[in-house]
Amino acid sequence: MTCHCIDSYFWVRRVPKKNLAKIGRAQLLRSARQAMKNAYAPYSNFKVGAAILTSAGDVFLGCNVENASYGMTNCAERTAIFAAVAKQGPGLEILAVAVANEQGVPCSPCGACRQVIYEFGPDAIVFFQGKKGSQQASITDLLPDGFRLK
Ligand code: THU
Repeated sequence: MTCHCIDSYFWVRRVPKKNLAKIGRAQLLRSARQAMKNAYAPYSNFKVGAAILTSAGDVFLGCNVENASYGMTNCAERTAIFAAVAKQGPGLEILAVAVANEQGVPCSPCGACRQVIYEFGPDAIVFFQGKKGSQQASITDLLPDGFRLK
């Protein structure tokens, strides 16, 4: 599959719609690991990558981007989602999210990222490293009663 470098902070890989069903967990996790290599994590040394699969059949990548003012840090998941909106616009629909970290330790999306995933993917499935290895959960399991304005 061809990779197109679109920008310095994300790249997107087109997936023909007919192949959507074949885009499995392993492939999305592989993409997340690829994204992880771009992480800017000099403070925590904890590099994270995320890949989201959209209903349009695109895969967007994100990594964590830290800051000397720690609270300004952006997680990998939100980086991927914001890149997707910047590229595709506000109609983004997330089907699945994969998260990988360099240390191979348990790492599920933080609370803030769960809420952001829920915004664009109320039925999304999330693949991540759990306590017992690779795990998957629906976003509503990870975030019961997610907030909605309407
Ligand atoms: N981090 C992520 O990017 N995603 C997660 O799911 C958990 C935490 C980042 C934020 C920070 O740069 C580093 O991991 C340590 O908390």
